[in-house]
Amino acid sequence: MIVCTAGDIFEYTPTNRTPWAETERKAKYMSQALGLMDYDAIALGEKDLAFGTDLLQGYADEYSLPFVCANAVDPDGKPLFEPYRIVERDGVKVAIMGLVSPERHIIAQVESELLGKKIRIDDPSEVALKYLPQMREAADVLVLLSHTGIETSEFLSEDLGFDVVIVGHYPAVAAAPEKVGNAIFCQAGAKSDRFGTLDLTLNDANEIEKFSGDAVRLLLKGPQNDEIHELGQELDRIEKEERREAQLASQREREKVQQEKAVATIHDRNGIFGAESCRSCHQPVYDSWLATPHATAFATLAEADAWDNPDCIGCHVTGAADKHHVMDVNIAPEIWNVQCEECHGSGLQHARDGSYLGAGEATCRKCHDPDNSPEFDYELYKSYGVH
Ligand code: HEC
Ligand code: HEC
Ligand code: HEC
Ligand code: HEC
Repeated sequence: MIVCTAGDIFEYTPTNRTPWAETERKAKYMSQALGLMDYDAIALGEKDLAFGTDLLQGYADEYSLPFVCANAVDPDGKPLFEPYRIVERDGVKVAIMGLVSPERHIIAQVESELLGKKIRIDDPSEVALKYLPQMREAADVLVLLSHTGIETSEFLSEDLGFDVVIVGHYPAVAAAPEKVGNAIFCQAGAKSDRFGTLDLTLNDANEIEKFSGDAVRLLLKGPQNDEIHELGQELDRIEKEERREAQLASQREREKVQQEKAVATIHDRNGIFGAESCRSCHQPVYDSWLATPHATAFATLAEADAWDNPDCIGCHVTGAADKHHVMDVNIAPEIWNVQCEECHGSGLQHARDGSYLGAGEATCRKCHDPDNSPEFDYELYKSYGVH
Protein backbone atom coordinates (compact mmCIF):
# COMPACT_ATOMS: atom_id res chain seq x y z
CA MET A 1 0.00 0.00 0.00
CA ILE A 2 1.10 3.54 -0.75
CA VAL A 3 -0.48 6.41 1.15
CA CYS A 4 -0.53 9.94 -0.19
CA THR A 5 -2.48 13.20 -0.18
CA ALA A 6 -2.93 15.98 -2.72
CA GLY A 7 -2.48 18.88 -0.30
CA ASP A 8 -4.10 21.78 1.60
CA ILE A 9 -3.63 19.98 4.84
CA PHE A 10 -2.78 22.90 7.08
CA GLU A 11 -5.16 25.42 5.54
CA TYR A 12 -3.60 28.75 6.38
CA THR A 13 -5.97 31.49 5.23
CA PRO A 14 -4.73 34.92 6.33
CA THR A 15 -8.17 36.45 5.75
CA ASN A 16 -9.95 34.40 8.37
CA ARG A 17 -9.63 35.79 11.86
CA THR A 18 -7.89 32.88 13.56
CA PRO A 19 -4.79 34.22 15.31
CA TRP A 20 -1.51 33.08 13.83
CA ALA A 21 -0.34 31.32 17.00
CA GLU A 22 -3.44 29.13 16.92
CA THR A 23 -3.03 28.35 13.22
CA GLU A 24 0.59 27.44 13.72
CA ARG A 25 -0.14 25.24 16.72
CA LYS A 26 -2.83 23.37 14.82
CA ALA A 27 -0.41 22.82 11.94
CA LYS A 28 2.11 21.38 14.37
CA TYR A 29 -0.42 18.92 15.79
CA MET A 30 -1.51 17.99 12.26
CA SER A 31 2.09 17.39 11.29
CA GLN A 32 2.60 15.15 14.27
CA ALA A 33 -0.54 13.17 13.38
CA LEU A 34 0.51 12.95 9.71
CA GLY A 35 3.87 11.63 10.85
CA LEU A 36 2.13 8.87 12.78
CA MET A 37 0.17 7.92 9.65
CA ASP A 38 3.29 7.02 7.66
CA TYR A 39 2.53 8.84 4.46
CA ASP A 40 4.60 8.04 1.38
CA ALA A 41 4.02 11.40 -0.30
CA ILE A 42 2.34 14.62 0.74
CA ALA A 43 1.73 17.23 -1.94
CA LEU A 44 1.55 20.85 -0.85
CA GLY A 45 -1.39 23.09 -1.67
CA GLU A 46 -1.25 26.87 -1.82
CA LYS A 47 -2.61 27.12 1.72
CA ASP A 48 0.19 24.87 2.95
CA LEU A 49 2.86 26.84 1.09
CA ALA A 50 1.53 30.01 2.71
CA PHE A 51 3.14 28.79 5.96
CA GLY A 52 6.51 29.38 4.37
CA THR A 53 9.34 27.03 3.56
CA ASP A 54 11.12 27.25 6.91
CA LEU A 55 8.15 26.19 8.94
CA LEU A 56 7.15 23.41 6.55
CA GLN A 57 10.70 22.12 6.33
CA GLY A 58 10.81 22.19 10.13
CA TYR A 59 7.70 20.00 10.32
CA ALA A 60 9.11 17.72 7.60
CA ASP A 61 12.32 17.20 9.56
CA GLU A 62 10.69 16.81 12.94
CA TYR A 63 7.92 14.41 11.93
CA SER A 64 9.44 12.80 8.79
CA LEU A 65 6.88 14.21 6.38
CA PRO A 66 7.60 13.37 2.73
CA PHE A 67 6.54 16.62 1.06
CA VAL A 68 6.60 16.67 -2.75
CA CYS A 69 6.11 19.80 -4.80
CA ALA A 70 7.79 20.24 -8.17
CA ASN A 71 6.75 23.74 -9.14
CA ALA A 72 7.08 25.80 -5.94
CA VAL A 73 10.49 27.38 -6.38
CA ASP A 74 12.69 30.07 -4.85
CA PRO A 75 13.43 33.31 -6.74
CA ASP A 76 16.31 31.54 -8.56
CA GLY A 77 13.99 28.83 -9.79
CA LYS A 78 15.29 26.18 -7.41
CA PRO A 79 12.62 23.76 -6.13
CA LEU A 80 11.81 24.35 -2.46
CA PHE A 81 10.85 20.72 -1.87
CA GLU A 82 11.51 17.36 -3.48
CA PRO A 83 9.78 17.49 -6.90
CA TYR A 84 8.89 13.79 -6.78
CA ARG A 85 9.62 10.64 -4.84
CA ILE A 86 10.02 7.06 -5.90
CA VAL A 87 8.40 4.44 -3.73
CA GLU A 88 8.88 0.74 -4.28
CA ARG A 89 6.37 -1.97 -3.41
CA ASP A 90 6.66 -5.65 -4.40
CA GLY A 91 9.23 -4.85 -7.07
CA VAL A 92 7.07 -2.15 -8.63
CA LYS A 93 8.46 1.36 -8.62
CA VAL A 94 6.00 4.22 -8.33
CA ALA A 95 7.09 7.82 -8.95
CA ILE A 96 4.88 10.39 -7.20
CA MET A 97 5.05 14.05 -8.16
CA GLY A 98 3.31 17.01 -6.53
CA LEU A 99 2.12 20.06 -8.46
CA VAL A 100 0.30 23.13 -7.24
CA SER A 101 -1.71 25.54 -9.32
CA PRO A 102 -0.38 29.05 -10.00
CA GLU A 103 -3.80 30.24 -11.22
CA ARG A 104 -4.98 33.51 -9.77
CA HIS A 105 -8.40 32.29 -8.71
CA ILE A 106 -6.79 29.48 -6.73
CA ILE A 107 -3.95 31.33 -5.01
CA ALA A 108 -5.69 34.71 -4.59
CA GLN A 109 -6.25 34.31 -0.84
CA VAL A 110 -2.62 33.62 -0.07
CA GLU A 111 -0.92 35.51 -2.85
CA SER A 112 0.68 38.15 -0.64
CA GLU A 113 1.89 35.48 1.80
CA LEU A 114 3.60 33.63 -1.03
CA LEU A 115 5.15 36.83 -2.33
CA GLY A 116 6.30 37.80 1.14
CA LYS A 117 7.84 34.39 1.70
CA LYS A 118 9.52 34.48 -1.70
CA ILE A 119 7.72 31.45 -3.03
CA ARG A 120 7.16 31.40 -6.77
CA ILE A 121 4.82 28.92 -8.43
CA ASP A 122 5.95 27.99 -11.94
CA ASP A 123 3.87 26.65 -14.81
CA PRO A 124 2.94 23.08 -13.83
CA SER A 125 3.16 21.46 -17.28
CA GLU A 126 6.52 23.01 -18.08
CA VAL A 127 7.92 21.84 -14.79
CA ALA A 128 6.40 18.37 -15.11
CA LEU A 129 7.79 17.95 -18.64
CA LYS A 130 11.23 18.66 -17.25
CA TYR A 131 11.08 15.79 -14.77
CA LEU A 132 8.91 13.26 -16.61
CA PRO A 133 11.62 11.59 -18.73
CA GLN A 134 13.74 10.81 -15.69
CA MET A 135 10.68 9.65 -13.74
CA ARG A 136 9.59 7.36 -16.59
CA GLU A 137 13.12 6.01 -16.74
CA ALA A 138 13.21 5.24 -13.03
CA ALA A 139 9.67 4.04 -12.32
CA ASP A 140 6.92 1.78 -13.63
CA VAL A 141 3.92 3.82 -12.58
CA LEU A 142 3.71 7.63 -12.58
CA VAL A 143 1.39 9.30 -10.12
CA LEU A 144 0.53 13.00 -10.07
CA LEU A 145 -0.73 14.59 -6.86
CA SER A 146 -2.46 17.41 -8.64
CA HIS A 147 -3.28 20.29 -6.38
CA THR A 148 -4.81 22.23 -9.24
CA GLY A 149 -8.54 21.59 -9.33
CA ILE A 150 -10.22 19.41 -11.94
CA GLU A 151 -9.82 21.32 -15.23
CA THR A 152 -6.10 21.79 -14.92
CA SER A 153 -5.73 18.19 -13.80
CA GLU A 154 -7.47 17.01 -16.96
CA PHE A 155 -5.42 19.33 -19.10
CA LEU A 156 -2.21 18.24 -17.43
CA SER A 157 -2.89 14.55 -17.80
CA GLU A 158 -3.63 14.92 -21.52
CA ASP A 159 -0.49 16.88 -21.99
CA LEU A 160 1.85 14.78 -19.94
CA GLY A 161 0.77 11.21 -19.67
CA PHE A 162 0.72 10.35 -15.97
CA ASP A 163 -0.81 6.97 -15.19
CA VAL A 164 -2.67 8.09 -12.13
CA VAL A 165 -3.89 11.56 -11.17
CA ILE A 166 -5.05 12.28 -7.63
CA VAL A 167 -7.13 15.43 -7.84
CA GLY A 168 -6.73 17.98 -5.06
CA HIS A 169 -8.20 21.41 -4.33
CA TYR A 170 -11.59 20.24 -5.55
CA PRO A 171 -14.55 19.29 -3.41
CA ALA A 172 -16.39 17.00 -5.86
CA VAL A 173 -16.31 13.29 -5.09
CA ALA A 174 -16.16 10.53 -7.68
CA ALA A 175 -17.51 7.34 -6.12
CA ALA A 176 -14.81 5.34 -7.88
CA PRO A 177 -11.67 6.09 -9.89
CA GLU A 178 -12.34 6.56 -13.58
CA LYS A 179 -10.38 6.87 -16.78
CA VAL A 180 -9.92 10.38 -18.17
CA GLY A 181 -7.97 10.06 -21.40
CA ASN A 182 -5.17 7.68 -20.58
CA ALA A 183 -4.98 8.50 -16.90
CA ILE A 184 -6.87 7.07 -13.96
CA PHE A 185 -8.47 9.89 -11.99
CA CYS A 186 -9.13 9.67 -8.29
CA GLN A 187 -11.32 12.27 -6.59
CA ALA A 188 -12.11 11.78 -2.94
CA GLY A 189 -13.33 15.32 -2.24
CA ALA A 190 -12.15 17.70 0.44
CA LYS A 191 -12.00 18.26 4.21
CA SER A 192 -10.89 14.71 4.99
CA ASP A 193 -14.47 13.47 4.65
CA ARG A 194 -13.31 10.58 2.54
CA PHE A 195 -10.34 8.41 1.91
CA GLY A 196 -9.88 7.47 -1.73
CA THR A 197 -8.58 4.02 -2.53
CA LEU A 198 -7.16 2.71 -5.80
CA ASP A 199 -6.16 -0.91 -6.44
CA LEU A 200 -3.92 -1.43 -9.43
CA THR A 201 -3.20 -4.78 -11.07
CA LEU A 202 -0.09 -4.80 -13.26
CA ASN A 203 0.89 -7.32 -15.93
CA ASP A 204 4.30 -8.91 -16.25
CA ALA A 205 5.62 -5.84 -18.09
CA ASN A 206 4.49 -3.77 -15.10
CA GLU A 207 1.76 -2.07 -17.11
CA ILE A 208 -1.59 -1.32 -15.54
CA GLU A 209 -4.01 -4.04 -16.49
CA LYS A 210 -6.91 -3.45 -14.17
CA PHE A 211 -7.95 -0.88 -11.60
CA SER A 212 -10.69 -0.45 -9.07
CA GLY A 213 -11.25 1.72 -6.02
CA ASP A 214 -13.56 3.63 -3.79
CA ALA A 215 -14.04 6.92 -1.98
CA VAL A 216 -14.56 5.62 1.54
CA ARG A 217 -16.47 7.87 3.86
CA LEU A 218 -14.55 8.39 7.09
CA LEU A 219 -16.89 7.93 10.00
CA LEU A 220 -16.45 9.06 13.54
CA LYS A 221 -16.99 5.50 14.66
CA GLY A 222 -14.46 3.04 13.47
CA PRO A 223 -10.96 1.91 14.17
CA GLN A 224 -8.89 4.65 15.65
CA ASN A 225 -5.28 5.19 16.47
CA ASP A 226 -4.97 6.02 20.17
CA GLU A 227 -1.94 8.20 19.76
CA ILE A 228 -3.58 10.33 17.05
CA HIS A 229 -6.83 10.44 19.01
CA GLU A 230 -4.96 11.70 22.08
CA LEU A 231 -3.29 14.42 19.96
CA GLY A 232 -6.74 15.62 18.84
CA GLN A 233 -8.02 15.59 22.41
CA GLU A 234 -5.00 17.51 23.63
CA LEU A 235 -5.41 20.20 20.97
CA ASP A 236 -9.11 20.46 21.87
CA ARG A 237 -8.25 20.90 25.52
CA ILE A 238 -5.69 23.63 24.80
CA GLU A 239 -8.08 25.50 22.52
CA LYS A 240 -10.95 25.29 25.02
CA GLU A 241 -8.72 26.50 27.84
CA GLU A 242 -7.58 29.41 25.68
CA ARG A 243 -11.13 30.38 24.78
CA ARG A 244 -12.02 30.28 28.48
CA GLU A 245 -9.04 32.48 29.32
CA ALA A 246 -10.07 34.92 26.59
CA GLN A 247 -13.60 35.06 27.99
CA LEU A 248 -12.31 35.67 31.50
CA ALA A 249 -10.01 38.40 30.23
CA SER A 250 -12.85 40.19 28.47
CA GLN A 251 -15.01 39.81 31.58
CA ARG A 252 -12.23 41.33 33.69
CA GLU A 253 -11.94 44.12 31.14
CA ARG A 254 -15.69 44.80 31.42
CA GLU A 255 -15.47 44.84 35.22
CA LYS A 256 -12.57 47.26 35.04
CA VAL A 257 -14.56 49.61 32.82
CA GLN A 258 -17.48 49.41 35.25
CA GLN A 259 -15.19 50.15 38.17
CA GLU A 260 -13.72 53.09 36.34
CA LYS A 261 -17.24 54.32 35.71
CA ALA A 262 -18.02 53.94 39.41
CA VAL A 263 -14.91 55.91 40.32
CA ALA A 264 -15.92 58.50 37.74
CA THR A 265 -19.31 58.99 39.44
CA ILE A 266 -17.52 59.31 42.78
CA HIS A 267 -15.38 61.99 41.20
CA ASP A 268 -18.57 63.64 40.05
CA ARG A 269 -19.42 63.90 43.78
CA ASN A 270 -16.06 65.55 44.44
CA GLY A 271 -14.52 62.20 45.23
CA ILE A 272 -16.82 61.46 48.18
CA PHE A 273 -17.48 57.77 48.84
CA GLY A 274 -19.70 58.37 51.86
CA ALA A 275 -19.57 57.29 55.51
CA GLU A 276 -21.15 53.92 54.67
CA SER A 277 -18.03 52.97 52.75
CA CYS A 278 -15.81 53.69 55.78
CA ARG A 279 -18.09 51.85 58.17
CA SER A 280 -16.97 48.35 57.21
CA CYS A 281 -13.49 49.00 58.62
CA HIS A 282 -14.18 51.72 61.16
CA GLN A 283 -17.40 50.58 62.82
CA PRO A 284 -16.65 52.07 66.32
CA VAL A 285 -15.70 55.46 64.85
CA TYR A 286 -18.76 55.31 62.62
CA ASP A 287 -21.03 54.59 65.58
CA SER A 288 -19.69 57.48 67.62
CA TRP A 289 -19.84 59.82 64.60
CA LEU A 290 -23.48 58.82 64.17
CA ALA A 291 -24.15 60.22 67.64
CA THR A 292 -22.76 63.69 66.77
CA PRO A 293 -24.90 66.54 65.34
CA HIS A 294 -22.82 66.27 62.14
CA ALA A 295 -24.62 63.04 61.24
CA THR A 296 -27.98 64.83 61.08
CA ALA A 297 -26.88 68.23 59.76
CA PHE A 298 -28.93 67.90 56.58
CA ALA A 299 -32.07 66.99 58.49
CA THR A 300 -31.56 70.20 60.44
CA LEU A 301 -31.74 72.11 57.17
CA ALA A 302 -34.85 70.24 56.13
CA GLU A 303 -36.49 71.09 59.45
CA ALA A 304 -35.64 74.74 58.79
CA ASP A 305 -37.24 74.22 55.36
CA ALA A 306 -33.95 75.16 53.72
CA TRP A 307 -32.83 71.78 52.25
CA ASP A 308 -32.93 73.27 48.73
CA ASN A 309 -31.53 76.68 49.58
CA PRO A 310 -28.25 77.08 47.69
CA ASP A 311 -26.99 79.51 50.35
CA CYS A 312 -27.45 77.00 53.19
CA ILE A 313 -26.55 73.60 51.79
CA GLY A 314 -22.75 74.00 51.51
CA CYS A 315 -22.00 73.58 55.24
CA HIS A 316 -24.69 70.95 55.89
CA VAL A 317 -23.40 68.40 53.38
CA THR A 318 -20.07 66.74 52.61
CA GLY A 319 -17.56 67.82 50.01
CA ALA A 320 -19.09 71.11 48.83
CA ALA A 321 -16.20 73.26 47.67
CA ASP A 322 -18.06 76.52 48.19
CA LYS A 323 -19.62 76.57 51.61
CA HIS A 324 -21.69 79.71 51.09
CA HIS A 325 -23.31 78.94 47.77
CA VAL A 326 -23.79 75.68 45.91
CA MET A 327 -24.66 75.60 42.24
CA ASP A 328 -26.72 72.41 42.28
CA VAL A 329 -29.36 71.92 44.95
CA ASN A 330 -30.10 68.33 43.85
CA ILE A 331 -27.95 66.83 46.59
CA ALA A 332 -27.30 63.09 46.39
CA PRO A 333 -28.22 61.35 49.69
CA GLU A 334 -24.70 59.93 49.81
CA ILE A 335 -23.34 63.38 50.65
CA TRP A 336 -26.05 64.57 53.01
CA ASN A 337 -24.69 65.58 56.44
CA VAL A 338 -21.16 66.32 57.60
CA GLN A 339 -19.49 62.99 57.03
CA CYS A 340 -16.02 61.52 57.53
CA GLU A 341 -14.57 62.82 54.29
CA GLU A 342 -15.54 66.40 55.04
CA CYS A 343 -12.85 66.42 57.73
CA HIS A 344 -10.42 63.77 56.42
CA GLY A 345 -10.65 64.39 52.69
CA SER A 346 -11.78 62.11 49.88
CA GLY A 347 -11.33 58.38 50.50
CA LEU A 348 -9.23 58.40 47.33
CA GLN A 349 -6.48 59.91 49.50
CA HIS A 350 -6.83 57.33 52.28
CA ALA A 351 -3.42 56.73 53.87
CA ARG A 352 -2.27 54.97 57.02
CA ASP A 353 0.69 57.13 57.93
CA GLY A 354 -1.04 59.92 59.80
CA SER A 355 -1.38 62.14 56.74
CA TYR A 356 -5.08 61.30 56.28
CA LEU A 357 -5.98 62.55 59.77
CA GLY A 358 -5.85 65.98 58.22
CA ALA A 359 -8.60 67.60 60.22
CA GLY A 360 -7.42 70.52 62.32
CA GLU A 361 -8.99 73.74 63.51
CA ALA A 362 -8.90 75.30 60.04
CA THR A 363 -11.02 72.43 58.76
CA CYS A 364 -13.70 73.15 61.32
CA ARG A 365 -13.66 76.87 60.64
CA LYS A 366 -14.63 76.42 56.99
CA CYS A 367 -18.12 75.93 58.39
CA HIS A 368 -17.88 77.09 61.95
CA ASP A 369 -17.46 80.69 60.92
CA PRO A 370 -18.49 83.62 63.12
CA ASP A 371 -21.83 84.05 61.35
CA ASN A 372 -23.00 80.49 61.70
CA SER A 373 -21.13 79.30 64.79
CA PRO A 374 -20.40 82.33 66.94
CA GLU A 375 -19.59 80.27 69.99
CA PHE A 376 -17.12 78.01 68.29
CA ASP A 377 -14.23 77.01 70.53
CA TYR A 378 -11.99 74.43 68.91
CA GLU A 379 -10.90 72.50 72.01
CA LEU A 380 -14.40 72.43 73.41
CA TYR A 381 -16.08 71.57 70.12
CA LYS A 382 -13.51 68.94 69.36
CA SER A 383 -14.20 67.27 72.68
CA TYR A 384 -17.74 66.31 71.74
CA GLY A 385 -18.20 67.14 68.06
CA VAL A 386 -15.79 64.77 66.33
CA HIS A 387 -16.41 61.10 67.12
C1 HEC B 1 -20.67 78.59 56.37
C2 HEC B 1 -21.36 77.41 56.83
C3 HEC B 1 -22.85 77.45 57.07
C4 HEC B 1 -23.83 77.94 56.26
C5 HEC B 1 -23.65 78.59 54.89
C6 HEC B 1 -25.07 77.66 56.91
N1 HEC B 1 -24.86 77.01 58.09
FE1 HEC B 1 -26.25 76.36 59.35
N2 HEC B 1 -24.81 75.81 60.70
C7 HEC B 1 -23.47 75.87 60.46
C8 HEC B 1 -22.74 75.49 61.66
C9 HEC B 1 -21.22 75.38 61.78
C10 HEC B 1 -23.67 75.18 62.59
C11 HEC B 1 -23.43 74.73 64.04
C12 HEC B 1 -23.26 75.95 64.84
C13 HEC B 1 -22.96 75.71 66.26
O1 HEC B 1 -23.76 75.01 66.89
O2 HEC B 1 -21.96 76.23 66.68
C14 HEC B 1 -24.98 75.38 61.95
C15 HEC B 1 -26.19 75.15 62.53
C16 HEC B 1 -27.44 75.32 61.94
C17 HEC B 1 -28.71 75.03 62.56
C18 HEC B 1 -28.88 74.41 63.91
C19 HEC B 1 -28.50 75.33 64.99
C20 HEC B 1 -29.26 76.58 64.99
O3 HEC B 1 -28.61 77.63 64.79
O4 HEC B 1 -30.48 76.48 65.13
C21 HEC B 1 -29.68 75.38 61.66
C22 HEC B 1 -31.16 75.25 61.81
C23 HEC B 1 -29.00 75.87 60.48
N3 HEC B 1 -27.64 75.85 60.70
C24 HEC B 1 -29.64 76.33 59.34
C25 HEC B 1 -29.02 76.97 58.33
C26 HEC B 1 -29.73 77.70 57.27
C27 HEC B 1 -31.23 77.81 57.14
C28 HEC B 1 -28.79 78.18 56.43
C29 HEC B 1 -28.98 79.00 55.20
C30 HEC B 1 -29.64 80.24 55.43
C31 HEC B 1 -27.50 77.77 57.00
N4 HEC B 1 -27.69 77.06 58.15
C32 HEC B 1 -26.28 78.05 56.39
C33 HEC B 1 -22.84 76.24 59.25
C34 HEC B 1 -23.50 76.88 58.23
C1 HEC C 1 -15.92 66.88 62.07
C2 HEC C 1 -14.72 66.32 61.56
C3 HEC C 1 -14.60 64.83 61.54
C4 HEC C 1 -15.51 63.93 61.06
C5 HEC C 1 -16.87 64.21 60.46
C6 HEC C 1 -14.89 62.61 61.16
N1 HEC C 1 -13.66 62.71 61.72
FE1 HEC C 1 -12.35 61.22 62.04
N2 HEC C 1 -11.15 62.49 63.03
C7 HEC C 1 -11.35 63.85 63.12
C8 HEC C 1 -10.37 64.40 63.98
C9 HEC C 1 -10.26 65.88 64.34
C10 HEC C 1 -9.56 63.34 64.39
C11 HEC C 1 -8.42 63.38 65.34
C12 HEC C 1 -7.19 63.78 64.64
C13 HEC C 1 -6.05 63.95 65.57
O1 HEC C 1 -6.03 63.23 66.54
O2 HEC C 1 -5.25 64.79 65.21
C14 HEC C 1 -10.05 62.15 63.76
C15 HEC C 1 -9.48 60.88 63.82
C16 HEC C 1 -9.91 59.78 63.13
C17 HEC C 1 -9.25 58.50 63.09
C18 HEC C 1 -7.97 58.09 63.77
C19 HEC C 1 -8.13 58.04 65.26
C20 HEC C 1 -9.31 57.21 65.68
O3 HEC C 1 -10.21 57.83 66.29
O4 HEC C 1 -9.35 56.02 65.35
C21 HEC C 1 -10.00 57.69 62.29
C22 HEC C 1 -9.74 56.25 61.94
C23 HEC C 1 -11.13 58.47 61.82
N3 HEC C 1 -11.03 59.73 62.34
C24 HEC C 1 -12.11 57.98 61.02
C25 HEC C 1 -13.28 58.66 60.78
C26 HEC C 1 -14.42 58.06 60.16
C27 HEC C 1 -14.51 56.66 59.65
C28 HEC C 1 -15.38 59.00 60.11
C29 HEC C 1 -16.79 58.89 59.60
C30 HEC C 1 -17.58 57.80 60.12
C31 HEC C 1 -14.82 60.21 60.68
N4 HEC C 1 -13.55 59.95 61.07
C32 HEC C 1 -15.49 61.43 60.77
C33 HEC C 1 -12.34 64.58 62.50
C34 HEC C 1 -13.47 64.05 61.96
C1 HEC D 1 -10.73 48.51 53.90
C2 HEC D 1 -10.75 49.02 55.22
C3 HEC D 1 -10.83 50.50 55.37
C4 HEC D 1 -11.75 51.35 54.81
C5 HEC D 1 -12.90 51.03 53.87
C6 HEC D 1 -11.44 52.62 55.34
N1 HEC D 1 -10.35 52.57 56.15
FE1 HEC D 1 -9.55 54.08 57.17
N2 HEC D 1 -8.07 52.90 57.84
C7 HEC D 1 -8.01 51.55 57.65
C8 HEC D 1 -6.85 51.03 58.32
C9 HEC D 1 -6.45 49.56 58.37
C10 HEC D 1 -6.20 52.12 58.89
C11 HEC D 1 -4.91 52.14 59.70
C12 HEC D 1 -5.11 51.54 61.05
C13 HEC D 1 -5.96 52.40 61.90
O1 HEC D 1 -5.52 53.53 62.19
O2 HEC D 1 -7.07 51.96 62.29
C14 HEC D 1 -6.99 53.27 58.57
C15 HEC D 1 -6.70 54.55 58.98
C16 HEC D 1 -7.55 55.61 58.82
C17 HEC D 1 -7.31 56.94 59.35
C18 HEC D 1 -6.07 57.38 60.06
C19 HEC D 1 -5.21 57.86 58.90
C20 HEC D 1 -3.74 57.89 59.07
O3 HEC D 1 -3.13 58.41 58.11
O4 HEC D 1 -3.20 57.35 60.03
C21 HEC D 1 -8.38 57.70 58.99
C22 HEC D 1 -8.58 59.18 59.30
C23 HEC D 1 -9.27 56.87 58.25
N3 HEC D 1 -8.76 55.61 58.19
C24 HEC D 1 -10.47 57.31 57.74
C25 HEC D 1 -11.22 56.57 56.86
C26 HEC D 1 -12.32 57.11 56.12
C27 HEC D 1 -12.81 58.52 56.21
C28 HEC D 1 -12.81 56.11 55.36
C29 HEC D 1 -13.96 56.18 54.38
C30 HEC D 1 -13.83 57.15 53.32
C31 HEC D 1 -11.99 54.96 55.62
N4 HEC D 1 -11.05 55.26 56.52
C32 HEC D 1 -12.18 53.76 55.03
C33 HEC D 1 -8.91 50.79 56.93
C34 HEC D 1 -9.96 51.29 56.20
C1 HEC E 1 -18.99 70.99 56.44
C2 HEC E 1 -19.12 71.94 57.53
C3 HEC E 1 -18.61 71.58 58.88
C4 HEC E 1 -17.33 71.26 59.25
C5 HEC E 1 -16.08 71.19 58.36
C6 HEC E 1 -17.36 71.05 60.66
N1 HEC E 1 -18.60 71.20 61.12
FE1 HEC E 1 -19.20 71.01 63.02
N2 HEC E 1 -21.12 71.39 62.51
C7 HEC E 1 -21.54 71.69 61.22
C8 HEC E 1 -22.98 71.87 61.20
C9 HEC E 1 -23.82 72.19 59.97
C10 HEC E 1 -23.40 71.66 62.49
C11 HEC E 1 -24.82 71.72 62.98
C12 HEC E 1 -25.41 70.36 62.90
C13 HEC E 1 -26.80 70.29 63.41
O1 HEC E 1 -27.04 70.85 64.50
O2 HEC E 1 -27.63 69.69 62.76
C14 HEC E 1 -22.20 71.37 63.26
C15 HEC E 1 -22.19 71.11 64.59
C16 HEC E 1 -21.07 70.86 65.36
C17 HEC E 1 -21.08 70.68 66.79
C18 HEC E 1 -22.26 70.71 67.65
C19 HEC E 1 -22.43 72.08 68.16
C20 HEC E 1 -23.58 72.18 69.11
O3 HEC E 1 -23.30 72.27 70.31
O4 HEC E 1 -24.71 72.13 68.59
C21 HEC E 1 -19.79 70.48 67.17
C22 HEC E 1 -19.29 70.25 68.58
C23 HEC E 1 -18.98 70.56 66.00
N3 HEC E 1 -19.80 70.82 64.94
C24 HEC E 1 -17.60 70.41 65.97
C25 HEC E 1 -16.82 70.46 64.82
C26 HEC E 1 -15.41 70.34 64.83
C27 HEC E 1 -14.54 70.17 66.07
C28 HEC E 1 -15.01 70.44 63.56
C29 HEC E 1 -13.64 70.33 63.01
C30 HEC E 1 -12.83 69.23 63.48
C31 HEC E 1 -16.21 70.60 62.78
N4 HEC E 1 -17.30 70.64 63.59
C32 HEC E 1 -16.22 70.74 61.39
C33 HEC E 1 -20.73 71.82 60.10
C34 HEC E 1 -19.39 71.53 60.07
